[in-house]
Amino acid sequence: MNRMETLATLAASVSAPAYVRHPRLMGWVREIAARTQPERIVWCDGSRAEYDALCDAMVASGTLIRLSEEKRPGSFLARSDASDVARVEDRTFICSERQDDAGPTNNWRAPAEMRATLDRLFEGAMRGRTMYVVPFSMGPIGSPLAQVGVEITDSPYVAVSMRIMTRMGRAVVEHLGSDGAFVPCVHSVGAPLAPGERDVAWPSNSEHKYIVHYPETREIWSYGSGYGGNALLGKKCLALRIASVMGRDEGWLAEHMLILGVTSPAGDKRYVAAAFPSACGKTNFAMLIPPAGFDGWKVTTVGDDIAWIKPGPDGRFRAINPEAGYFGVAPGTSYDSNPNAMETLKANAIFTNVALTDDGDVWWEGMTKEPPAHLIDWQGRDWTPESGRKAAHPNARFTAAATQCPSIDPSWDDSAGVPISAFIFGGRRSDTMPLVVEAPNWEAGVYMAATMGSETTAAMAGATGEVRRDPFAMLPFCGYHVGDYFGHWLKMGTAVAHPPRIFGVNWFRKDANGKFVWPGFGQNMRVLKWIVGRCAGDAKGHETPLGVMPDFGDLDWSGTAFPPERYAQAVAIDRDAWGRELKAHDELFARVGPKQPPALASERSRLGGRLSR
Ligand code: OXD
Ligand code: MN
Repeated sequence: MNRMETLATLAASVSAPAYVRHPRLMGWVREIAARTQPERIVWCDGSRAEYDALCDAMVASGTLIRLSEEKRPGSFLARSDASDVARVEDRTFICSERQDDAGPTNNWRAPAEMRATLDRLFEGAMRGRTMYVVPFSMGPIGSPLAQVGVEITDSPYVAVSMRIMTRMGRAVVEHLGSDGAFVPCVHSVGAPLAPGERDVAWPSNSEHKYIVHYPETREIWSYGSGYGGNALLGKKCLALRIASVMGRDEGWLAEHMLILGVTSPAGDKRYVAAAFPSACGKTNFAMLIPPAGFDGWKVTTVGDDIAWIKPGPDGRFRAINPEAGYFGVAPGTSYDSNPNAMETLKANAIFTNVALTDDGDVWWEGMTKEPPAHLIDWQGRDWTPESGRKAAHPNARFTAAATQCPSIDPSWDDSAGVPISAFIFGGRRSDTMPLVVEAPNWEAGVYMAATMGSETTAAMAGATGEVRRDPFAMLPFCGYHVGDYFGHWLKMGTAVAHPPRIFGVNWFRKDANGKFVWPGFGQNMRVLKWIVGRCAGDAKGHETPLGVMPDFGDLDWSGTAFPPERYAQAVAIDRDAWGRELKAHDELFARVGPKQPPALASERSRLGGRLSR
């Protein structure tokens, strides 16, 4: 095709489908096309036929491998470039007008400077590629708790993943009408193709990566990565970083929380929202199956990663899961740890960076006790158990629709959201933090969440086993100054007549031999039952310096013979460890600086006083 023909094709394909009646949206798409110069523009309608055609095309191009129809119907495997395997926190920027609005926990650049950098990078960035326009709703379309975004991307992998992870396509554009609000999200893998240049299976840019948020203008620009939260811009970028700013301005909360429902045998139902840092088993907890002895108890899943929470008309917080699918960590997921996730993944799933079995299925570390004798690893190399390396990347992922989850909550898609009775905060701590504690009041709960720490794991870059402070599990996701965020949480305690109770949990305490004290997984139901019992006013506990904790006899031990001495290890308060812990809190608060709310300093001295008595 000569240049004139190319331009003619582009001009023809620029025109939007007839159902697009939104001049501002069309103008923005034209503007981005003019800058990035794609070969073609496709408006995604979100249909199954479109999804199938895109997947077929990616199989033909080598980006996807079709898995066995018998073993894993309708499913695919993608292998990313070895340099593009995780969220890149050091390349993630909050570009507020004032540096002080981004705060000490975010990377900041002046918006004008960042725009100049991105202008250069995006100029011609989509040459030789198709530009997909992906309209999506975070939350049920039209819900008062939902937000619309439109992602422009040059990655068909992103387009199909967004169909699983969000409500995507024509219905969203129709909902927008002629002037509905949307968050513009621009994404390029940053790998333009010269005429005749052959593409690679996973295009990305190993030199330049930028995940950029402009909180004032509510814009997202992502360059250089095709992986997960760097590229599926509805998830961490919109639903947490930009939405947290919206929540601050409008009086609601965008949180890194799963939402689950607990129903008692008597039919009493309560919802809880729980925040854990990445790689602390959030998806497992969200899909928990009660253990033997808990007949008639049921746990149902509203969401596994993000919650948007607004004051409801009944004086309680109402929460939705803004997502429509799960983008979960595959390694460690098994029929032992999470049968509901395994069932969710039986078909129509996209796997990234897991291993391929000889019969066209997938495998990852922890899926079965015995590894298969031969695999193709996540980098496409032959693998045997003797290889001495991991077959799946530790951050390998599955992408599957929420509707496929056997434990899906009947109200998961309810526009009004579900009422929240409790907030739970938990990190990965081999010592110091007890199995469960209820904060004495809202302020003490906010203090507990603000000072949360978690040990780093192999799924994250850097040293492992170090405790990193991860306030509210939002460290990489809060789109504004963390001190203002603490202040916002303190204020939200008075936004409803019935604020949820706040609990801290720790499933990861270890004994002197380095063994986990608490078995976790389904056994966490015992703790969950106590938590909902506290909300109902019928579970007992005793006061401790940290808050109310259950005695051994206050938990339901049906169906197990858990030794009381072991329980004592799980809940012991070690004063020396707490001395070190309080020092770490002080270091965090020193880092937060003058925006640290005075109420948290008061909480710090109250806690210090109780612990020294
Ligand atoms: C995630 C994360 O991908 O928290 O959910 O890293
Ligand atoms: Mn997450």
